[in-house]
Amino acid sequence: MDRFLVGAPHYPEHVDESYWERDAQRMAAAGFNVVRMGEFAWHIFEPREGVFDFDLFDRAIDGLAHHGVQTILCTPTATPPRWLTRRHPEVLRVDEHGRRASHGSRQHADTTNPVFREHSKRITRALSDHYRDNPNVIGWQTDNELNTTESLSFSEPARIEFQKFLEAQYQTIDRLNFAWGGSFWATHYDNFDDVVFPVDGNPGWVSPGHAQDYHRFLAFATARFQHDQVEILRAANSKWFIFHNLGRLEDIDFRGQFSTDLDFLGYDIYPLLYDEMQRIGGHAEIQALHLDICRGFSGNFIVPEQQAGIGSQPGFTTLTPEPGEMRRMAYSSVARGADGLLFFRWRPAHFGAEIYWMGILDHDDIPRRRYDEAKQFAVEMAEISGTLLGTHVRMDVGIAGADFDNQQAHRAYPIGLPSPHDDGMILHRHCYRNGIACGFIHPKDDLSRLKLLYVPHWVIWNDEWTARVEAFVRNGGTAIFSARTGSRDANNHVIRRPAPGLSLSELTGVVVEEFGRLPAPGRDGLFDTSRYRAANVREAHPATSARRRVTLKLGNHEIVAAHMYELLELAPGVEALGAWSSGFAQGRAAITVREVGKGRVFYLGTYLTDDLVNALSIDMIARAGVEPLVPDLPDGVEATMREGAGRRLLFVLNTRAEPVSVKGLPKGAALVGQIGGDRVADLPGYGCLLLAVAD
Ligand code: GAL
Repeated sequence: MDRFLVGAPHYPEHVDESYWERDAQRMAAAGFNVVRMGEFAWHIFEPREGVFDFDLFDRAIDGLAHHGVQTILCTPTATPPRWLTRRHPEVLRVDEHGRRASHGSRQHADTTNPVFREHSKRITRALSDHYRDNPNVIGWQTDNELNTTESLSFSEPARIEFQKFLEAQYQTIDRLNFAWGGSFWATHYDNFDDVVFPVDGNPGWVSPGHAQDYHRFLAFATARFQHDQVEILRAANSKWFIFHNLGRLEDIDFRGQFSTDLDFLGYDIYPLLYDEMQRIGGHAEIQALHLDICRGFSGNFIVPEQQAGIGSQPGFTTLTPEPGEMRRMAYSSVARGADGLLFFRWRPAHFGAEIYWMGILDHDDIPRRRYDEAKQFAVEMAEISGTLLGTHVRMDVGIAGADFDNQQAHRAYPIGLPSPHDDGMILHRHCYRNGIACGFIHPKDDLSRLKLLYVPHWVIWNDEWTARVEAFVRNGGTAIFSARTGSRDANNHVIRRPAPGLSLSELTGVVVEEFGRLPAPGRDGLFDTSRYRAANVREAHPATSARRRVTLKLGNHEIVAAHMYELLELAPGVEALGAWSSGFAQGRAAITVREVGKGRVFYLGTYLTDDLVNALSIDMIARAGVEPLVPDLPDGVEATMREGAGRRLLFVLNTRAEPVSVKGLPKGAALVGQIGGDRVADLPGYGCLLLAVAD
């Protein structure tokens, strides 16, 4: 980016044209430089098959450009029009019960479908031919939040595509049978044409290999669907940037072709929706988590949609961002890697399934507090854009993330355990609350700038990664592996030698002799037989929970362990840092540490809990040389740093309505907000401070 993009998704097709000039003036007055348009307008671009009409958007783009507001266009493939689904009902998704998707909302068409792919290419070609020389169209978003409404399809055409995918992967049916464990239950196939979809619970469990390959297929087909469009757009105008806006992160391999095809990723941020949907408090914390996960896919990103007001669809409404909070949420995105941000949306719709998704303007077309905040943010971004762009988010603690196969391996056999992300989240939370620079990273990435790498039970471990981690440790880094890492192979089969496998056993100096399950925190470890598909759900029962409560001791801390225990054999020179302190494993090592070169490797024979991370924070985190960006960060205050090109920018953001004093800040000049001479900042409710840290 050569400037910070700021603006809003805009739907000129939703209002009378008499609004347009005033809209453009108001956007310009707010300091907006971009809008995003067209993602649901296929029926306008192509009202009948082969008949194109770009007039409405041509005029809208021109009118905005007249006021200095440029346009990002979208391929409109999230909403194939009725003429298409009437003529080709086979493009509609089919659910696991055989029900065909109805027409009338969005994402009803199946991106695996060859006929739909042809139509997607046709509309993309028509749009790119028409706009290739329009200087006011600066880039493209592919589709809209692919796989967010639905990622699955069980249609006949999808089955044929699935079979073709498997044949290309395995070449011979024997290889597929080996990978899926064909000698177990009725998992054996005679040829690829016989392969069916994996449908759990009808009547029993399917092979995890089968399930895993189905999701690999969906990810492959999603990337292929997008690739069709990217190829056409790039051929039309190589100067256009191309991105996608991520929503629900379903069935997309973000480290694969899906992302490498793009210039950058976009990530839609609806913090108050996370409160509603996930029923976890603390939308600021969840926003930070989601942004950090996203940055782990491909580095800095843009936010094509950021919540402005309340959000609703007929089944729900989120709470309202309070005055000042919309700007603070935007700063949180910037602090974690956004190089552009659009507030969703310019104005709310008056009809349709999102009439109370409030925009920058209100229904009565009057700009109020949300307009003022957007304006303040846009003006500030214009001022700091030169200093901000070119910096990246500092990361002292890296959590291994973004590995599609590991996430899917868990999903195919979850047994009520936290996923690698769920486990990593616990360390993320600790870092977030303590102002420690943290993010997600893949062992394939450059690890050299980290101080600490945590690998949360990645059951599929590639030996090539071990050498990279070892080099990082020899150079002074700290690596931590948790239970079950390296216990399965690329086919998701359990390995035939002791975990964590050859190369990791050498690096950690540990061999796992035995493993078993422990209850989740607050549970009794028994599963509810009426709902056995969601294991570990039962509330703790005093009679059983006492027996199943297993503790481990770490220095002076005694902690209740959760989810998994392992019994470890230690190679010479490996120190037992923590030991099991109850149950039959009492006295055996639970947590080990080994000095390797200038650094240290830990092995946790269990999964993380909040208590365990707190107990380990001195031995693991502080001894790794990790220090908070701001000491004694008050509750509710976020601290992150963007650095690079000789600059260090510290963001200190108050996520609460109450004012707060933040002490012990480094010396520097405030680019946004104010700091006192004694290095104390008094932040108002939702106040934002951006400090250019002096050397
Ligand atoms: C996003 C989507 C938008 C809008 C918004 C609010 O997921 O991309 O089109 O629906 O959520 O629901």
